[in-house]
Amino acid sequence: MCGIVAVIGSREAAPLLLEGLRQLEYRGYDSAGLATVQAPLEAPASGDQGAPGQLTCLRAEGKLVNLTARFDAVGAPGHCGIGHTRWATHGKPEERNAHPHLDGSGQVAVVQNGIIENYRSLREQLQAEGVVFRSDTDTEVIPHLLARQLASLQDQGRVASGSLLLEAVQLVLPQLQGAYALAVVWAAVPGGLVVARRQAPLLIGLGEGEFLCASDTPALAGFTRTILPLEDGEVALLTPLGIELYNGAGVRQQRNPSLLTGTEHVADKRSFRHFMHKEIHEQSETAALWVARHLPELGSDTGGGNPAGSSLVALPLDEAVFEGVERIQILACGTSRHAALVGAYLLEQLAGIPASVFYASEFRYAPPPLGPHTLTIGVTQSGETADTLAALLMEQERRLLVADPAYAPKLLGITNRPESSLGRLVPHILDIGAGIEVGVAATKTFLAQLLAFYGLALAFAERRGGGVHGPAKLRSLVAALRLLPAQLQQLVIDHDQRCADLAHLFTDTQDVIFLGRGINYPIALEGALKLKEISYIHAEGYPAGEMKHGPIALLDARVPVVSIAMPGLVFEKVLSNAQEAKARDAQLIGVAPQGPDTDLFDTLLPVPEIDELLSPLLTVIPMQLLSYHIAAHRGLDVDQPRNLAKSVTVE
Ligand code: F6R
Repeated sequence: MCGIVAVIGSREAAPLLLEGLRQLEYRGYDSAGLATVQAPLEAPASGDQGAPGQLTCLRAEGKLVNLTARFDAVGAPGHCGIGHTRWATHGKPEERNAHPHLDGSGQVAVVQNGIIENYRSLREQLQAEGVVFRSDTDTEVIPHLLARQLASLQDQGRVASGSLLLEAVQLVLPQLQGAYALAVVWAAVPGGLVVARRQAPLLIGLGEGEFLCASDTPALAGFTRTILPLEDGEVALLTPLGIELYNGAGVRQQRNPSLLTGTEHVADKRSFRHFMHKEIHEQSETAALWVARHLPELGSDTGGGNPAGSSLVALPLDEAVFEGVERIQILACGTSRHAALVGAYLLEQLAGIPASVFYASEFRYAPPPLGPHTLTIGVTQSGETADTLAALLMEQERRLLVADPAYAPKLLGITNRPESSLGRLVPHILDIGAGIEVGVAATKTFLAQLLAFYGLALAFAERRGGGVHGPAKLRSLVAALRLLPAQLQQLVIDHDQRCADLAHLFTDTQDVIFLGRGINYPIALEGALKLKEISYIHAEGYPAGEMKHGPIALLDARVPVVSIAMPGLVFEKVLSNAQEAKARDAQLIGVAPQGPDTDLFDTLLPVPEIDELLSPLLTVIPMQLLSYHIAAHRGLDVDQPRNLAKSVTVE
């Protein structure tokens, strides 16, 4: 949530900051800003003892284009600077609440990503001392505290330098409570900037003749592939000549940088109008990559089973993850939680392991009593969701307090960003490998998360003698999964125009109900979430059998009902539930195979018949396309819906 970027080096900073912010805009787009420090002509290019410089701060409400226009109009000179793209937490999304925030004299500028939890008491304390605040934000306390700290150090005869700025930051940080990452510039030191992180991501990039720092890799990938992720509690001074890195105790750290792998640079939209549409179309490639990576080609069959030593599914996980697991708990938020619900269904119904799913934000404050031999899985595509990380950390810490080894923490992360904070928190990671997703509404990463759970459930089931249904069932599921990429490709093509045509029917719609049962109930939830987040139409997902216990009162001819009815355990039940909705005049849209059973639907979005256990991989496609086309038809900002951000790094 919010993105920060900083740069110092031989080039003009502002254009680099704007490019970095462009890559981070998915983290928030309520407002944006930057501050640069220009050195006087005679200043040496060093962090220490530079002559004072000139600080320029530009801020604009709304999307980054507004800030870019302001920069084009007035400029912001200097080779050192910081930038910010905001997702509002404290204070409305107005220009006065945009970052950077300055101290009273306009000499210290700060950008922050996170929340300063004790800002009220700090603010009151500063106001009592005469400080005037110009914003409603939590962040503004920081430049004021820093300005006072710097003044006090200078009163002691200390000379302005990068080291002094570093020291002031180190002295102020212990006063701040919360999870945050920040970057600071000081007009007195044109040749240095300071960055710090506490439970919020921050990475330094080592470029040619410049150092950069950002909340996430896409902002760095266009400049360098050599990165140094900051560890929790670390503070760094960046100058054109190098990096000084310190841990929370002030001890200097030496660490080798690492190389960025993958395609972190945000790709273009190709011929699509929106990233979300492109990402929906990319799902057959996502599935093909998963099949190639995780479903090994089988050798000749030696009599109804796998060749000795081979495995149906190859996951890059230690055997320790699978050993002795008696129950599984899964922590996640939003769309990732919907993938987790499908995952729990598979782990129970296929592998036979009791599994439960928790909202990470609820688990933190009301965890269930500890059970033995438990695998805890955190699912987060970004790997940065604050609630999920905090819930995992809490689970780890409470288990470490128990002496009995049966209660020892066993943590697995499922993510699209193995280099994220999640990757550093948990010992085992399953990389869903979907490539960068730009659209704020998750689509291809949801499919990739589902596939990760299919892999995991199959792997557990295989290690348990075939699980609930036996080895033959596992082999038939794997065979069907191999066909998935081609099926997805066809399904997306088939439904694209169909859903675009259907979108016209939703012009005046205010409420939509999504129904599903069993393994497709989470897909009903996901369909509803996709629709409400990008089209702003109120939508609810229900287990179809639950409608008659209250929600059916909502139905009339103005409320479309989207019903997922796939052949299997609950097929007839869902069809009966759909009939009940039809009897209340609801417009029925079916996501179901074509056939006599499904002719009750007013409109059918046909999905090929497939083993019910695999059906969510197909039924989610019409859900995504329907939401996309309804929002696009309404002319909405599909990729950056209001009030949302791709990565939710605040609690
Ligand atoms: C919805 C969506 C969000 C995220 C949620 C968790 O389309 O994207 O609901 O799923 O914010 O994010 P991650 O997976 O990064 O933890």
